[in-house]
Amino acid sequence: MTLTTVILAAGKGKRMHSDLPKVLHHLAGKPLLEHVVRTTASLDPKSQPIVVYGHQGERVKTSLDYLNVTWIHQTEQLGTGHAVQQTLTHLPADGRVLVLYGDVPLIKVETLKHFIAETPENAIGIITAELPEPKGFGRIIRDNKNKIKAIVEEKDATDRQRAIHEINTGIYLIPADFLQKHLPILKNENAQQEFYLTDLIALAVKEKINIHSVQPEHYEEILGVNDRLQLACLERFYQERFAEKLMLAGVTLLDPHRFDVRGEVQIASDVIIDINVVLEGHVKIGKGCVIGPNTLLRNVILGDHVEIKANSVLDGAEVGDHCTVGPFARLRPGSILSPEIHVGNFVEIKNSLIGTATKINHLSYIGDSEVGKHVIIGAGTITCNYNGANKNKTTIGDDAFIGSNTALVAPVVIGDGATIGAGSTISRDAPAHRLTICRGQQRTIENWQRPIKKEKEK
Ligand code: UD1
Ligand code: CA
Repeated sequence: MTLTTVILAAGKGKRMHSDLPKVLHHLAGKPLLEHVVRTTASLDPKSQPIVVYGHQGERVKTSLDYLNVTWIHQTEQLGTGHAVQQTLTHLPADGRVLVLYGDVPLIKVETLKHFIAETPENAIGIITAELPEPKGFGRIIRDNKNKIKAIVEEKDATDRQRAIHEINTGIYLIPADFLQKHLPILKNENAQQEFYLTDLIALAVKEKINIHSVQPEHYEEILGVNDRLQLACLERFYQERFAEKLMLAGVTLLDPHRFDVRGEVQIASDVIIDINVVLEGHVKIGKGCVIGPNTLLRNVILGDHVEIKANSVLDGAEVGDHCTVGPFARLRPGSILSPEIHVGNFVEIKNSLIGTATKINHLSYIGDSEVGKHVIIGAGTITCNYNGANKNKTTIGDDAFIGSNTALVAPVVIGDGATIGAGSTISRDAPAHRLTICRGQQRTIENWQRPIKKEKEK
């Protein structure tokens, strides 16, 4: 039986008090709507969900044009029923339609799979939840045989109905032919003068169509984002679940409440992660790594047994086995470190390939360079890669020794085993296995006197 997914995302999101459309606000580093689209993709990789957009529509569409979805514009937001009505010409005549929400980002694929499997094909499925605080939600009204007979919106409910804790999550599985037949006849005779999708339930009951309900494992899964407080709560829920998963897979988090993932991560066992570590984009961490406190890793691959010390920022870097980086190091995009390298404090590396066991321990900038193995780069070495117009390359051979406070003016080649005297400004190639030095000769001036303070006139 074919399944078509419709994601409603046209609402204004007034309570966000934001210029940004609600579904573009981020949770765990990704727009809310993208979470839902990704969930549908893991439900069925071939699926192309229909997204109903409206408020600041073009902005939503252009920001998320990398998603494989069919966009349908709802020019006026006249209610959830009206929103699904807009998709009717795109829905198949038969099969089933799964309705999801762009601002309910954490619904789990397992929950949806269970929901789809459990709901008989000719029934209407609905996910409900028992909420400690049901305020604001539509309530589930059941008859004396415990069968669902209607959904009543908070604003239309009686006090007795408001006391019900079972709520409508708004997630449904509905036969397409039922939608084709009933959506066009929905009425908006209610407190909000909206076309309620929920009214389909009472219509189905009238036609003796079976209503089947399931509940999620955690109710947080079905919570929506209406304001920034709810966004923060769901962000925490997401992060805690993620931290739990990592810990159960063999990762030590010194404090799971001070750890954030904003992307796709893969972490091997026996990794120790200190507090305030943020992982963004695609991050892969090999076994036995230790990540120090206050560290940002964005699009980074770490080999095995790497130590990243406190307050380091790595972005677009690849670090080989047994390297140590930091404290206070910055690896920028294109930094590729072979194994056993030491990068120390206040070192910045960009677009450079560094050979095995090389040491760059203090206060250096290495950019657009190729550095050999077993090289020692002294404190305060700068590769002058930019002449104001173009970037140029610095090449340093194996076993070279670069004395402290050296400027290497690119393009320049330092030969294998070369030694550069401290304080040099090297603007021509330095031969292999020789000492090259470029600085004023040291002199001592005889009979020199320090200036003497003038006597103040009285
Ligand atoms: C809806 C349900 C309510 C349920 C709750 C769950 C109805 C009438 N009520 O209420 O029973 O408990 O969700 O969160 O369905 N949207 C559109 N176009 C519109 C209106 C809404 O795309 O014209 C989208 C919104 O962007 C949002 C979703 O539909 O993603 C839900 O809309 P919202 O206004 O938040 O519905 P609720 O009143 O919360
Ligand atoms: Ca809502």
